Amino acid sequence: MSNTRIAFIGAGNMAASLIGGLRAKGLDAAQIRASDPGADTRARISAEHGIETFADNAEAIQGVDVILLAVKPQAMKAVCESLRPSLQPHQLVVSIAAGITCASMNNWLGAQPIVRCMPNTPSLLRQGVSGLYATAEVSAAQRDQAQELLSAVGIALWLETEQQLDAVTAVSGSGPAYFFLLIEAMTAAGVKLGLPAEIAKQLSEQTALGAAKMAVTSDVDAAELRRRVTSPGGTTQAAIESFQAGGFEALVETALGAAAHRSAEMAEQLGK
Ligand SMILES: NC(=O)c1ccc[n+]([C@@H]2O[C@H](COP(=O)([O-])OP(=O)(O)OC[C@H]3O[C@@H](n4cnc5c(N)ncnc54)[C@H](OP(=O)(O)O)[C@@H]3O)[C@@H](O)[C@H]2O)c1
Repeated sequence: MSNTRIAFIGAGNMAASLIGGLRAKGLDAAQIRASDPGADTRARISAEHGIETFADNAEAIQGVDVILLAVKPQAMKAVCESLRPSLQPHQLVVSIAAGITCASMNNWLGAQPIVRCMPNTPSLLRQGVSGLYATAEVSAAQRDQAQELLSAVGIALWLETEQQLDAVTAVSGSGPAYFFLLIEAMTAAGVKLGLPAEIAKQLSEQTALGAAKMAVTSDVDAAELRRRVTSPGGTTQAAIESFQAGGFEALVETALGAAAHRSAEMAEQLGK
């Protein structure tokens, strides 16, 4: 990315996080620019990261290699159509907008190399994970650029088919909420077992963090880690058996299936 120039269209939360990540990785402020209709948003991002900002999207993309679309899905059609007359064929378009397909973007932008990504909320803390899909027009060098861009806020994983982005949405896109739900439920159960609410909350949160760190850093998988902390006839086994008797695995499968289905349905609606 040492010579890559990037324009962010939309300078909201995700753009700010990506720009912060790229600057922390050593990208020069002169390599990055952003456009946004909000004067306050432009002033904030410019003050924080020292980058040039624009009110006009078409002006922002002049001379850049990568255009990162970081607007809400509902704004994507208008944004793409406004960029179309100014696009150069070699410019890579990277979209992080949930549910907007490459086919819709190609309709609105014309034939442009496109990488579609699904990041998640922990990207705001640079602890995210993104699924990435590239159209056939994307070169190997452009794939590397997209990979480096999204790696600025977490880890970035390539997918073989665009449809897999619905599964990514179900697993990691919506995933933080599942863990929040578990933290909520464990906290409530801890209170019912007699703990003060604040202590139950901290125990649940820190346990989630510690377990996630163990899973990420360990060289064995989650099933093995669970086996190692589940002594036969012990407390953990009693809890796990209760989860399983209540159909935990099947429930998770149904929940993620519902999210993936909704993701495909929303793509259909938003692409019109
Ligand atoms: N936040 C996440 O964790 C997350 C996770 C996965 C995917 N995403 C995707 O990332 C995208 C951005 O999300 P976000 O949370 O960063 O949203 P956000 O904070 O609302 O940022 C979007 C920015 O785009 C601006 N904007 C609106 N219309 C525009 C236009 N025509 N041209 C240029 N800029 C325009 C908005 O300005 P106004 O506020 O004035 O409208 C706002 O500053 C969304 O498509 C979302 O689906 C986000």
